[in-house]
Amino acid sequence: MNKNVLILGSGGREHALAWKISQSSLLSNLYCIPGNPGIATLASCPTGISEDAEALTRFIHDNKIDIFVCGPEAPLAEGLMDKLRQNLSDDVILIGPGRQGATLESSKQFAKEFMMRYNIPTAAYKSFNSQSLNQATEFIMTMNTPVVLKADGLAAGKGVVICNTRQEAVQEVTDMLNGKFGEASKVVVVEEFLRGIECSVFVLTNGEQYIVLPEAKDYKRVGEADAGPNTGGMGSVSPVPFFTDTLRKRICLNIIEPTLSGLKAEKIEYQGFIFFGLIIVNGDPYVIEYNCRLGDPETESIMLRIESDFIEMMTACHEGSLENYKIKISPQSAATVFLVSGGYPGTFAKGKMITLPSINSNSVLFHAGTAFSEGNLVTSGGRVIAVSSLAEGLSDAISTSNRLADEIKFDGKYFRRDIGFDLQL
Ligand code: AMP
Ligand code: GLY
Repeated sequence: MNKNVLILGSGGREHALAWKISQSSLLSNLYCIPGNPGIATLASCPTGISEDAEALTRFIHDNKIDIFVCGPEAPLAEGLMDKLRQNLSDDVILIGPGRQGATLESSKQFAKEFMMRYNIPTAAYKSFNSQSLNQATEFIMTMNTPVVLKADGLAAGKGVVICNTRQEAVQEVTDMLNGKFGEASKVVVVEEFLRGIECSVFVLTNGEQYIVLPEAKDYKRVGEADAGPNTGGMGSVSPVPFFTDTLRKRICLNIIEPTLSGLKAEKIEYQGFIFFGLIIVNGDPYVIEYNCRLGDPETESIMLRIESDFIEMMTACHEGSLENYKIKISPQSAATVFLVSGGYPGTFAKGKMITLPSINSNSVLFHAGTAFSEGNLVTSGGRVIAVSSLAEGLSDAISTSNRLADEIKFDGKYFRRDIGFDLQL
């Protein structure tokens, strides 16, 4: 029987999920709340439905939704899935962990302690609160530079500060513990800086079994050559050229499997995605962060490479039959280039008219910050549109996305032309 699917979210990640799910031969109706103008070309985006558990339960019930996928982390951290699970029959497939599972992302201190308990490689650290500011200062004075400071809680991607000197780190930890990031920085993790190359690894799991989705690398800094402040993500590539089979095996054995057995040991049920933010140091993977959802803009690249039916995968996850599930991944390469509004991640204009080029079937334009105003497509956010392309090799995928990025027009448009610059292509 075909399935009705509901996605929660409104960004490029959710557009990419909707794009992939809309191709499933097992799909009946696709809905997205609240969605965006791009998603609305693939799914019904009903208006006026609030995003709380009561309204979503009613919607799931009334529209006979079989599968619910939560895109962003905030509702997961607030326990949306626990409430839905209580309200709904076991047949409804929920993709996303409950509040406890989401703590892997929503508390860096919890994540670090968890990794210590299960011997999962991560940077050495200590955590502090406002009562232990003096100890934090003493600890920082013993550290090598740079020093990494992390607000414990969710801070909209801004909670990590890398300090080049100990003096700077002492000042910053003082500001953070004094409420620089509000509640999120009441506890601060102070950790060693790892020198290596980053990559993002994603699994779909039911807590027992897992499948590894294509790996990716994202580019967070606003400027070319990774200069300037962090953003929500300026682009991504998949596959990652240095990601060998040996590295994959090491990640499964030393990171993914201990994480799942740790969750089980702590009786934390987990069905959904786990995103392992890794740094590879001399061939050895270390976890720098866990996320309880897919990455953005990694999803925009990896969805182009997944050939398996996404509904089939999510159903197998729920039914406990991932053990023998062989995910089909395209050997081709995908690259995503994000078009942002000038000034982002600082202040930027909104409401600028957007003109889109025609594209061929190897590329997709994923909407993130767009809206309709008086019949025109306009900008409505910092990150506006992700251009994703699939090609034989990464260089081709990147140049195709760059060419399309040039052809999209709106006032103040900015994008990085150097996505993939650090990879030997
Ligand atoms: P996060 O918000 O945890 O993704 O961290 C933001 C960025 O800070 C990461 O993408 C890394 O580039 C960097 N980072 C975090 N932790 C470390 C670390 N221990 N060593 C080096 N870089 C780090
Ligand atoms: N691309 C990083 C993230 O989604 O957090």
